[in-house]
Amino acid sequence: MDTIIETVNLCRNYGTGSNLVQALKSVNIQIPAGSFTAIMGKSGSGKSTLLHLIGGLDRPSSGKVIVDGEDLYVLNQDKLADYRRRKIGLVFQSYNLIEELNAYDNIVFPILLDKKKPDRGYVEMLAEELGIKDRLSHLPHQLSGGQQQRVAIARALAHKPTVILADEPTGNLDQESGQEVLKLFLACHEKFGQTIVMVTHDPDIGALADQILNIEDGRIVGDAV
Ligand SMILES: Nc1ncnc2c1ncn2[C@@H]1O[C@H](COP(=O)(O)OP(=O)(O)O)[C@@H](O)[C@H]1O
Ligand SMILES: [Mg+2]
Repeated sequence: MDTIIETVNLCRNYGTGSNLVQALKSVNIQIPAGSFTAIMGKSGSGKSTLLHLIGGLDRPSSGKVIVDGEDLYVLNQDKLADYRRRKIGLVFQSYNLIEELNAYDNIVFPILLDKKKPDRGYVEMLAEELGIKDRLSHLPHQLSGGQQQRVAIARALAHKPTVILADEPTGNLDQESGQEVLKLFLACHEKFGQTIVMVTHDPDIGALADQILNIEDGRIVGDAV
């Protein structure tokens, strides 16, 4: 399989002097297109920092992030914003839904912000796949946590991004809805073939991944490719 995401000697420092934190220490990874990759490691090991850098949400201290042939951090701000909006779908632990908008409007909101026309049929198919089709006119507070996370997943998928980045997406859900959301997530991944990179603490999720990147104190350890 082709490599879609690559980091080259990627470093990210926070602070300076005695406050210096080296959150990523020369990370070199390659992620195959269409794969499901799990990033695992203790709290504070650098998982979110790595995910944010892949998502174009941060800036490296040194090194490169290359996604789909594009060297992200040489792009100008506008081009980088386009990259975030069009190539990437983000799912976080918190759902970040807009309370005043129903589920459907939440799902298409980023597309409207990008001045594009939502593909209603595609959104309905996603909602069907995620089991929220009969909830599209509901407001977030009328939905369970698991349903809200499914809306957030539909929002991340609706613009047909190449890469889905998920930071502990089931972290706020109980075991059962977490499992269910994950299953749907992976079903969508199978069906639409997107590359998924997921930060998780859950070894059961890791077991389902095509590859696991273990990160320890800012370095990839073990099965790094
Ligand atoms: N904005 C920040 N300012 C200073 N230090 C930070 C900041 N963000 C993260 N860090 C530090 O960088 C390290 C990695 O953090 P993070 O990537 O959030 O880890 P993880 O997601 O694995 O828990 C930690 O030591 C954390 O305290
Ligand atoms: Mg984190």
